[in-house]
Amino acid sequence: MAVLLYCRAGFEAECAAEIQERAGALGVYGYCKAQPDSGLVTYECKPEEGDHIARKIPVSSLIFARQLFARVADLNDLSVDDRVAPMVAALKDTQLCGRLWIETTDTNDGRALSALCKSITKPLTVALQTEGILATKEITNRPVLHVLFRSTHSVVLGYSYSYNHSPFPMGIPRIRTPKGAPSRSAAKLAEGFKVMIPEAEYEARVSSGMNAVDLGACPGGWTSVLVYYGMMVSAVDNGAMDAGLMETGQVKHFREDGFSFLPKKRNVRWLVCDMVEKPVRVAHLMADWFIGEWCHDAMFNLKLPMKKRYAAVRQYMDAIHERLAEAEVRGYELTAKHLYHDREEITVYLRKKLKT
Ligand SMILES: C[S@@+](CC[C@H](N)C(=O)[O-])C[C@H]1O[C@@H](n2cnc3c(N)ncnc32)[C@H](O)[C@@H]1O
Repeated sequence: MAVLLYCRAGFEAECAAEIQERAGALGVYGYCKAQPDSGLVTYECKPEEGDHIARKIPVSSLIFARQLFARVADLNDLSVDDRVAPMVAALKDTQLCGRLWIETTDTNDGRALSALCKSITKPLTVALQTEGILATKEITNRPVLHVLFRSTHSVVLGYSYSYNHSPFPMGIPRIRTPKGAPSRSAAKLAEGFKVMIPEAEYEARVSSGMNAVDLGACPGGWTSVLVYYGMMVSAVDNGAMDAGLMETGQVKHFREDGFSFLPKKRNVRWLVCDMVEKPVRVAHLMADWFIGEWCHDAMFNLKLPMKKRYAAVRQYMDAIHERLAEAEVRGYELTAKHLYHDREEITVYLRKKLKT
């Protein structure tokens, strides 16, 4: 068996290093196969171990993987005349699945297969339902059946558990940014909120009337997301803020250095930071805001211009943990994700766990 992981093309080495390390910690010793720029990592292991990983390593805890599923079959010589029958045959012993996701990798080669994915959806769905492999109506608490087309004649079939997968096909959420957002960066914070905050807790953590600080705010993409949710924002940056945002009355612009700015009162719920700066400096700054109890939730970017990105990310995460430990800060949660809208960077979420 194997476990398949989707990632951004170009980040296969990071995704592989991470799953190798996490599987090892679980007592599983497999190996990775990943072609450069394929957007896909295959972790080969024993049959029962693939299922074990699919159950035990939370996708939400993996930084570079967008999605993870356990492989059932790898078919490489599908005939143009009938692709459906061999797929159904290969899946006949699979547990009942509640949904079917027909996917490709997030690459140009993958996108070229989208017409095929569309046209096969109906016949494949009917055939799988007839054989009792797929429920006749969607069931969200049954496993998802993944059908990953790698080319017109090759497909990987597998499943992910409903309690351990990204809820978005291909691991890519659909993001809506506020109308008139002054920069495309807005999508990063909007995605961070959507992907890193559990749906059930969304309202408690992101709601109208909260105070927020945006370090490195200009021209105001991230601020526009905070304003959209009804927050009052202190936007810190020497640059120019979007005039429309300033007219909302919800934004106060501070032309100051983000590394020395501090709010007047300790009433800030959200600190967000998108300053293009050395990641270790940003990591320390975020930890210091927490130690000083200047905010409750922080979402920020760490830029990754270096070659050994996975090692660097581990170092930054460790640096935050160590700084908080030294200051005896407990009861916090630290997660990170390489979001769809993140390029050479990751998004990190640090929050206090005790209060909401
Ligand atoms: C990538 S842009 C931020 C884009 C913004 N998040 C948005 O959505 O529109 C980075 C910003 O960080 C600001 N910046 C860099 N270093 C800073 C510092 N030390 N203090 C305040 N702002 C800083 C820059 O002026 C720049 O406007």
